[in-house]
Amino acid sequence: MKTLVLFYSLTGNTEKIANGIAAKLNSDIEEIFDKKNRNGFFGHLVAGKDAVLRKFTEIEEVKKDLSQYDLVVVGTPVWAWGMTPAIRTYLSKNKFNKLAFFCTQGGSGGERTFRGMEEMTKQPVAVLSLIEKEIKNNHYQGKVKEFCDKLKQ
Ligand SMILES: Cc1cc2nc3c(=O)[nH]c(=O)nc-3n(C[C@H](O)[C@H](O)[C@H](O)COP(=O)(O)O)c2cc1C
Repeated sequence: MKTLVLFYSLTGNTEKIANGIAAKLNSDIEEIFDKKNRNGFFGHLVAGKDAVLRKFTEIEEVKKDLSQYDLVVVGTPVWAWGMTPAIRTYLSKNKFNKLAFFCTQGGSGGERTFRGMEEMTKQPVAVLSLIEKEIKNNHYQGKVKEFCDKLKQ
């Protein structure tokens, strides 16, 4: 099964997990870039507001051709209990075969994020939600393995 991991990450947590998943699945991987500057206090403030308002954003062109993949694994940080504008934009513009989702969060909003992503696309074959603390402490490998094992079935 040909798999692509696609993710957005502002501060590196989701990127770390995306790399771990891609390595375990031996899959391709691509980062989605938001053209809007989300850095710093003001950037975060607007990011939170954009997420609450379910706004779209301008993203850099994604190079990988989705039609070449059987499974796409989409990862996002949780912003204001939902997906990021970059992922919302990407999901809204594409059609998928099989999908799986993962998210990283400070502590709450994962389930709501997955519900929102599913509403825009289709039911995922598996989901993985990780908390920032377990990522920083490197206590996430078991959950990533379990998620990847499900995806390999
Ligand atoms: C604008 C903004 C909003 C956030 N909102 C939430 C939230 O609603 N719930 C939560 O648990 N964490 C929230 N966080 C924390 C991030 O989800 C968490 O730090 C995540 O791991 C960041 O991923 P990244 O390093 O890949 O960008 C928020 C962070 C930012 C910058």
